[in-house]
Amino acid sequence: MSLVSVRMRASYGGLHVSGAERIVEEESIPQAVEELLKRPKRYDYLKITLERLKRIEYIETSLPVKSFSFAKPSEARVFALELLHQAGVEREIAKRGIELLSCGANPTGGNMRGAVLMDVESGNRLEPSKERGIRTVRVDWENRAKVKGELLELDMTERTLDALAIATKNLNCGVIAELCWSDDPDYTTGYVASLKLGYVRLSPLKDEGDHMGGRIYFIDSRRAREIIECLEKKAVLIKSLRR
Ligand code: COA
Ligand code: AMP
Repeated sequence: MSLVSVRMRASYGGLHVSGAERIVEEESIPQAVEELLKRPKRYDYLKITLERLKRIEYIETSLPVKSFSFAKPSEARVFALELLHQAGVEREIAKRGIELLSCGANPTGGNMRGAVLMDVESGNRLEPSKERGIRTVRVDWENRAKVKGELLELDMTERTLDALAIATKNLNCGVIAELCWSDDPDYTTGYVASLKLGYVRLSPLKDEGDHMGGRIYFIDSRRAREIIECLEKKAVLIKSLRR
């Protein structure tokens, strides 16, 4: 079986507006491209990359999904801090992560193009570029349509499908815990993920209209090099949604 990574990125006015990917068999490339072309609402530049994969690794099941709702972001953030602590991140370091995402983790202002890598012990940032960050790439579901249907039944969207795949790969690569909320001003649900806790959706982790967002991957700094290699390079297919 020959598997191909199909990746799309689009920009508008020089700004990245959409990115998405699939890992599919050769005969499904046209369908994957058609789906990816529908993703950006508008663009003036769009690039599709096809890459034949030499090796693929399978993950049996995703993280289990749980959801919690709060009256306001400050309450959800207190709970996120406790979850990160339970996942093995000292409260002080977890607090630093939450503050970093709320103020904007890109030192030149605005959002990063990937995730912060934070040393779980010192809170130091380990990503080689603080503007770019680290991106989790080459990950998809073995049967995307089936898992998408299962998530839709649970009132979740394609956004959760993609974020759950990313979080599942991250932990499989050695990330200890992840904190994420979107940079989309209309999407206020975020999550904390760890092997012990699963994928815990928290709503709302930010206010409506807030353009700031990002991801923090808490890791053991001694493993930084192998974790970065795994996140950015290893091709992974997830077989099923954990119920
Ligand atoms: N955010 C911002 N800019 C991005 C980006 C992202 N997610 N992905 C790509 N870019 C831009 C950057 O300018 C990048 O240059 P850089 O490496 O200096 O940052 C440039 O595009 C080229 O990126 P590259 O990594 O070569 O793209 P690619 O063709 O391999 O595709 C994507 C990678 C787009 C598939 C991947 O980054 C992505 O966005 N995946 C989907 C993530 C997702 O599902 N998010 C939703 C979960 S809620
Ligand atoms: P999103 O959930 O798409 O709104 O992305 C939220 C933030 O996560 C972005 O602002 C980026 O900082 C970061 N990000 C986006 N894509 C990736 C990725 N593939 N891997 C790691 N971080 C990402």
